[in-house]
Amino acid sequence: MKILVTGGAGFIGSHTVLELANAGFEPILVDNFANSHPNVLTNLSIIAGRDFTFYEGDCNSVAFLNQIFTEHPDIEGVIHFAADKAVGESVQNPLKYYRNNVGSLVSLLDVMLEKGVKNLVFSSSCTVYGQPEFLPVTEETPIVKAESPYGNTKQICEEVLVDTVKSGVNLKAIALRYFNPIGAHPSALIGELPLGVPNNLIPYVTQTAAGIRLLLRVFGNDYNTPDGTCIRDFIHVVDLAKAHVAALKLLAKTSEDNHFDMFNIGTGNGNSVKEVVDTFMEVTGEKLNYEFAPRRSGDVEQIFANVEKATHVLGWKAEIGLAQSLADAWRWQQQLPTA
Ligand code: UFG
Repeated sequence: MKILVTGGAGFIGSHTVLELANAGFEPILVDNFANSHPNVLTNLSIIAGRDFTFYEGDCNSVAFLNQIFTEHPDIEGVIHFAADKAVGESVQNPLKYYRNNVGSLVSLLDVMLEKGVKNLVFSSSCTVYGQPEFLPVTEETPIVKAESPYGNTKQICEEVLVDTVKSGVNLKAIALRYFNPIGAHPSALIGELPLGVPNNLIPYVTQTAAGIRLLLRVFGNDYNTPDGTCIRDFIHVVDLAKAHVAALKLLAKTSEDNHFDMFNIGTGNGNSVKEVVDTFMEVTGEKLNYEFAPRRSGDVEQIFANVEKATHVLGWKAEIGLAQSLADAWRWQQQLPTA
């Protein structure tokens, strides 16, 4: 079964391409390399021992998407990763986020509906929950007003899907609400490639250990948590990739013509930033230069997933723990250039 993977050269997209191929799907990749590198395609071919069909272009362009679906009339589903994801940048440049994240979903849906492609898996985020009142969060936890335009685009995109499904146009969609994706492929040939100074914790940790950054700042040690640092649910990217395969299989089995559902995709465990730092040093044997710094504005104190729905309905569960995820992230970092 042919599956279009937008953002197929990105961090989560590239790992999902491999899991799709392992599961017998035929992924067709799209990327504009706005936040990824063409080398990823070469490395995907090395890992998989085969080449993948690839299109370079922008998912905002209906003409470009039309061309792909016309050349592959047998595409049966889409996994839509292509999006911008830097929270701070979204505050500086909200229109870029509304255009690229919301606009591209609308363009994609237009083309899918015109071509009769019914199945869509959408990349959402636990950011839709903000700081929840009760933990762990379930899919019934209320959505709160987004802290950033980035978060708002994820909420709006879910609403776009809900409304489109409600309109009865033959669309089956699943939104996967990712918690914090980390780690890298065990081959260390693909992983996270942040542009410039990383915003996210794990690439900052690995770059500091590699000597690219002088010092990791742990933002806040006065939170109301056991060690005072924030708590997150860190999920290995390979586990996350497998959730997309499970979602596609569920859509294929769903007999309704119009269907929307959403799932938390995390491990179900909360780990603090300090635990991440300590575990990293323990598993890698590397010394990490870090200090406590003031809180980062916009951070939620703690969030982790209730994954019962994914376990029972999707038939998916994370298998890789924090220590292995950090070891894989470090192996990936070590073979990257240091300058
Ligand atoms: N952190 C540090 N030092 C750093 C970087 C991060 O202490 O140098 C802390 C943060 O303050 C936070 C935790 O590590 O407490 C995790 O931060 P990340 O930036 O790695 O991830 P977030 O939990 O902030 O997640 C955000 C959005 C997600 C989005 C993700 C990726 O909430 O929706 O960034 O962009 F998907």
